[in-house]
Amino acid sequence: MRNSLLHKKILITAGPTYERIDPVRFIGNFSTGKMGFAIAEECANRGAEVVLIAGVTSLSVSHPNIRRIDVESAMEMYEACIQEFPETDIAILSAAVADYRPLQSADEKIKRKEGENLTITLVPNPDIAASLGQLKKPHQLLIGFALETENEEANAIKKMAKKNLDFIVLNSLKDSGAGFGHDTNKVTILFANSEKKSFELKSKKEVARDIVDVISEK
Ligand code: CTP
Repeated sequence: MRNSLLHKKILITAGPTYERIDPVRFIGNFSTGKMGFAIAEECANRGAEVVLIAGVTSLSVSHPNIRRIDVESAMEMYEACIQEFPETDIAILSAAVADYRPLQSADEKIKRKEGENLTITLVPNPDIAASLGQLKKPHQLLIGFALETENEEANAIKKMAKKNLDFIVLNSLKDSGAGFGHDTNKVTILFANSEKKSFELKSKKEVARDIVDVISEK
């Protein structure tokens, strides 16, 4: 267990991305990064060399095996991932990446105009998971997360296939205590060979242990 990931290089994305509207505003989401940070620590404790690509979060990490790269936007996260991926054995993509960003980020604060609507045009961000899925070599393992509000398992399975993932961790949003902001989570792991493993509601540290156990077995 202790050194089950010795000599493995692992890339982990965590937290939200912020997409700037102007110097003081952004489009974001409620991800805190707790799940990804817990996975990073669990991998590091098992001897892996971890690159943690973190969106905007107040979390801190101090482990000699973890190299942290802080990013703000999806584009920055994408570039860091593309740079690091060729050298990694396993990539775990737990970040809540914004699918769209404002076409333009205003240089000055956007002023209120009485009685007028404000329209912000959004353009698609790259899908980091799908891009790494295309670059993936046979020795590399690619793991994604899915957050669904309906047809959870069917949608997660579709996502796994579309992004060429080896398995996908489905977060349950329906169970109280699971998901964004909580210290606990409830997950089901779905595999490309249609196997599945369901886990109880647990602390994110324990969920990280379950996920990393599955990775170590692979
Ligand atoms: N992901 C990514 N880059 C994106 C969007 C998502 O790498 N631009 C990754 C996430 O980190 C996660 C997986 O893809 O591992 C699924 O993310 P999710 O937001 O559930 O899926 P989307 O592909 O964005 O689909 P949708 O929002 O339409 O459900």
